[in-house]
Amino acid sequence: MKKLWGGRFSKQPEEWVDEFGASISFDQQLASQDLKGSLAHAKMLYECNIIDESAYKNIKNGLLALVQEEKAGKLSYSVKYEDIHLNLEKLLTDKIGPDGGKLHTARSRNDQVATDFHLFVKEESLHIIDHIEELQKSLLNLAEEHVETIIPGYTHLQRAQPVSFAHHLLAYFWMLERDKERMQDSLKRTDIMPLGAGALAGTTFDINRNITMNELGFSNKYLNSLDAVSDRDFAIECCSNASMIMMHLSRFCEELILWSSEEFGFIEISDSFTTGSSMMPQKKNPDMAELIRGKSGRVYGSLMSLLTLMKGLPLAYNKDMQEDKEPVFDTVKTVKGCLSIMTGMMNEIKMNADKMNKAVHQDFSNATELADYLAKKGIPFREAHELVGQMVLHCIHKDCYLLDISLEEYQEWCPLVENDLFVALSPKTAVERRNSEGGTGFDAVLKQIDAAKSKMYVSKN
Ligand code: ARG
Repeated sequence: MKKLWGGRFSKQPEEWVDEFGASISFDQQLASQDLKGSLAHAKMLYECNIIDESAYKNIKNGLLALVQEEKAGKLSYSVKYEDIHLNLEKLLTDKIGPDGGKLHTARSRNDQVATDFHLFVKEESLHIIDHIEELQKSLLNLAEEHVETIIPGYTHLQRAQPVSFAHHLLAYFWMLERDKERMQDSLKRTDIMPLGAGALAGTTFDINRNITMNELGFSNKYLNSLDAVSDRDFAIECCSNASMIMMHLSRFCEELILWSSEEFGFIEISDSFTTGSSMMPQKKNPDMAELIRGKSGRVYGSLMSLLTLMKGLPLAYNKDMQEDKEPVFDTVKTVKGCLSIMTGMMNEIKMNADKMNKAVHQDFSNATELADYLAKKGIPFREAHELVGQMVLHCIHKDCYLLDISLEEYQEWCPLVENDLFVALSPKTAVERRNSEGGTGFDAVLKQIDAAKSKMYVSKN
């Protein structure tokens, strides 16, 4: 079989070598973008008088028919035609005859593939943003229900100070908000059209790149043909943003896994997102959360693949760059999947209020309250800190907590203590009072919820 580029060759490549070089097994995912790009290119060729009306109509109708067949999953590709670009050109030519061969005028597969890939990453970045928003909505709903639910806050995974559960959830809301902003920002650098760059140097045909740019909905076009066909920074940025999302989801999952353990018992993950054990009948494993945590590895891996792939390539196109697609395809699929599962999991999560309440009462996370109380009575904070440390040690020896010590005993230890100490030491008071901006106090959290809601509203525009 003669290659579409076979003119210069006297010997046919062997089938097994062809197979090694082909990308059709994966780049068929770019079929819709490729057809869109070709429709725009054909229109531009016609409007610039590079092809005549009858050829244009023929090409356009052929491409539109392929669009329908592609949507219906009726196109079949062959490894003989290497990649999606040559496969579609072959299918078009089979359909409409020699006019099909005019479509590739003033175009190279190099600007063609770059254009398809930009369109793909652009569409997928928008889908990822939508998925992030769904998860944010779910977190916001949950936060609104749990402003006054108190859990231990940790540092070093040691109980530190009690916090509102809503506050904890909102921390992830803001991380996701920045993830969304990062995607929106990199979209600006993805929304640039390479088409018209030719193989690397532009073209002698009198093309008009504004026509294709508008037709394809790009906001900008590359102003250097070498740059246009050579860089994949937009794809790398997408994978980098995706890695950040996965890092955030992975941390969150780690917490869900811990919280759903017997040891914590703060939450129960719905049956739909857990699995049983084939041997141990009592088990309910947080598989989905674990998988999300695990999948962060492959997304980071994709980012590393792309960075490594690109680092030594001389300008302009090199066949190495065919390896750019699978990591990106895998990344967007993984990130969207993880965000959806996370949203589903959060929508059905159950809190164990009793366990949370017990946890904040049976610990020393109110020790700072005691130190603050003494400081407010005039004892220098450093001294108060030392005194409270001794009191905590005393409690540990007595096997009790700060709220179990009587007023008399406190007064022997420090005469400044009065009855109001016990209110100050309750976890609820500890949380309620931390109303500094961005703090965990109930009023501060309500303000935060308002701010979060306004972000959601703004991003819809
Ligand atoms: N399949 C190729 C890729 O994905 C398309 C571009 C091929 N260009 C070339 N000059 N061989 O990168």
